[in-house]
Amino acid sequence: MKIQVGNKLCDVKVLFSEQQIGTRIAEIAADINSTPPADGSALVVLVVLHGALLFAADLIRHLNLATEIESVRIRSYHGTQSTGKIELLSQLPERLKGRHVLVVEDIIDSGRSIAFLKDKLNTLGVASLRIAALLDKPEAHEESIQADYVGFKIGRNFVIGYGLDLDGHYRNLPYVAEVIQ
Ligand code: IMP
Ligand code: MG
Repeated sequence: MKIQVGNKLCDVKVLFSEQQIGTRIAEIAADINSTPPADGSALVVLVVLHGALLFAADLIRHLNLATEIESVRIRSYHGTQSTGKIELLSQLPERLKGRHVLVVEDIIDSGRSIAFLKDKLNTLGVASLRIAALLDKPEAHEESIQADYVGFKIGRNFVIGYGLDLDGHYRNLPYVAEVIQ
């Protein structure tokens, strides 16, 4: 497959197949299931939209502890570049206060989005906070941020599919693919 990036036609290479993603998600879910909130309350899964939509949907299916679902919309990317400017496009649910929260994110790149969200959640006063990211680009981190659960570590290249977009497109691909620029 070839895709248009700006005025360039780029190749894409599949990095993780639907099956590989499924297997890894089941492993992450098993990890999460083994450490439920200590006080017996439900785990609130906070889905970072839109990127984590597919990951969250598949992960939640494997959770066998009491869960609730909330979502938040944040944006930092335009095209294949991080803008560095994080925008909260929806209000953070007030009811997260005092709750055990698992943030589900598609990818950690510079780490700025997750650092920003973490800060907001701590200010709101969550009881505990854990982060699950399908993908992580350790070489691109600009914030010292560490997810508690990571699906796959990748290089700096831009990726699409399985929720991840290029200007709103390609989220529907069932696999994760690298854009060769
Ligand atoms: P960060 O704030 O730089 O860590 O960027 C995180 C956000 O940027 C993610 O939630 C994604 O929405 C987006 N992003 C970062 N890298 C990629 C990529 O390779 N493909 C698609 N979106 C990405
Ligand atoms: Mg995102």
